[in-house]
Amino acid sequence: MTATSTMHHAAASVTAGTRIHVIDRDGREHHLEWLPGQSLMEALRDNGLPVLASCGGRAACATCHVFLDANLVKQLGTRHQDEQELVEETQAYDPETSRLSCQVHHDLALDGITVRMAPEEE
Ligand code: FES
Repeated sequence: MTATSTMHHAAASVTAGTRIHVIDRDGREHHLEWLPGQSLMEALRDNGLPVLASCGGRAACATCHVFLDANLVKQLGTRHQDEQELVEETQAYDPETSRLSCQVHHDLALDGITVRMAPEEE
């Protein structure tokens, strides 16, 4: 078995991910790195934020509901039908800012965005 050794020089490394700010349900701010290949939900969950994601990211549970800046939501384009139908049934739905984070794909252009976690459904 051969071990692949990767030389890693931290001082010279360039961050491959995207820095995002997240406001959790208690109003606390977190700064995370969102890596290419992750959905926004995965970035939140893998950084220890309480996203249940019980459907595994298939736009079927709405536990990954977040609010984004209204201009950003416009820029991201129309929600797919499954996402739209599910998110508009949530109590906190806001047509201008709501997204299911499992349906938001990584994009370097999203560096620096702020993500607010929606309240849990009762
Ligand atoms: S993880 Fe279930 S809807 Fe996003």
